Amino acid sequence: MDKFVIHGGKKLTGTVKISGAKNSVLALMPACLLNSGKNIIYNTPEVNDVYTMIKLLNFLGVESDFSNSKLLLDTSQIKSQIAPYEHVKKMRASIYVLGPLLSRFGYAKVSMPGGCAWGPRPVNLHLEAMKKLGADIKLEEGYIIAKSHKLTGNKIHFDISSVGATGNALMAAVLAKGTTVITNAAIEPEITLLAESLKKMGARISGIGSSILEIEGVEELRPAEFENISDRIEAGTMLVAGAITHSKIAIDYNFSHHIEIIIDKLKESGANLLINNGIIELDATNSMINSVDVTTAVYPGFPTDMQAQWIAYMSLSNGTATVVDNIYYDRFTHVPELIRLGADIEMHNNSAIVKGVKKLKGAKVMSTDLRASASLVLAGLAAEGETEILRVYHIDRGYQKIEEKLRALGADIIRVSTKEY
Ligand code: UD1
Repeated sequence: MDKFVIHGGKKLTGTVKISGAKNSVLALMPACLLNSGKNIIYNTPEVNDVYTMIKLLNFLGVESDFSNSKLLLDTSQIKSQIAPYEHVKKMRASIYVLGPLLSRFGYAKVSMPGGCAWGPRPVNLHLEAMKKLGADIKLEEGYIIAKSHKLTGNKIHFDISSVGATGNALMAAVLAKGTTVITNAAIEPEITLLAESLKKMGARISGIGSSILEIEGVEELRPAEFENISDRIEAGTMLVAGAITHSKIAIDYNFSHHIEIIIDKLKESGANLLINNGIIELDATNSMINSVDVTTAVYPGFPTDMQAQWIAYMSLSNGTATVVDNIYYDRFTHVPELIRLGADIEMHNNSAIVKGVKKLKGAKVMSTDLRASASLVLAGLAAEGETEILRVYHIDRGYQKIEEKLRALGADIIRVSTKEY
């Protein structure tokens, strides 16, 4: 078990490169199950969720090779259509194998993902979509068992916009017979990349980037090479790291159009930002932190995956900010930990009322989930004295060597192996 030890208050300086996006590659990797042969995904982040997905795909019979962010997946020898509990319990995104296995092999048995540290996370929309395409779905002994002789295109409407369910429906529909129309489809960049990647394999999809996707099923797909996008949440987290420490830093990130809302909110908070040729410069050296409200929403709204980091930032603002999470109502396990560092936060249902304090003070805190951990790191960078963050395995799920990147910017942060839990 590792922990981070941070001595806060250091100014950051320099440029940090943003790694490949975790959430897009977690959809793209299982999408390769739809074809037979060698696929290559460039710009794959070296994070634990990717290793978990590789293990699951290996279990299904996929051969893999992963080095220097180049991931090779050979899908020509698939021998199982079962995603066991051991793999799925570690990572909900394992549910992404359902659509591809079902549509290519007519059968998939996938362990039901459980809840999360921040509450229930249902998969009903994924299952409804499979049923619409003609699958017979049963739930037995904790497993989803999906069968179909041949999936058939249909109209699928999602009452709630869901990234995962849209991805799964898309992957199932590309090999279905006939035409599928998905309405209220998620328009997150990760879904756009998935749809474009499926097209590279030979899928027929129109409406990419909009909330209406039309898919004309094809007989088979071919392997291909893909370039992953870079991680918009890592980009946002690093920019907040610069802002919360009143620093001047830059991020090497080509996708500023994916984080417009974060850039706008940072500007509102008083930071100066300049975008130039794939580099975003942030200068927060002279600014006070203005309190800025945010409400999470589906893309292009403020991402729920940046909510925890924003609360950490607003803890040091000059007023009171209200941070509302409308995607995951219970996703606030970081709040009690931030309060341990001296933050003044009150919860009212899914709203955090964050009253800015003059300073945070280092303490021992506990990571509870991926983005909660990121918020504690940000708070620790700004806090006076020493902050210890336990259970950083959560942060390793989705950030590639965050402590090394921050140290390269001048932060005083080290990883220490510990028996503490
Ligand atoms: C993905 C991201 C996660 C991000 C989330 C919201 C991955 C691997 N994870 O998760 O980091 O926080 O999008 O942007 O890409 N819902 C249902 N029934 C379902 C599915 C979802 O009611 O079957 C609800 C959820 O409870 C939530 C909302 O829909 O309130 C959106 O969730 P969804 O977009 O599906 O999140 P994930 O794809 O699981």
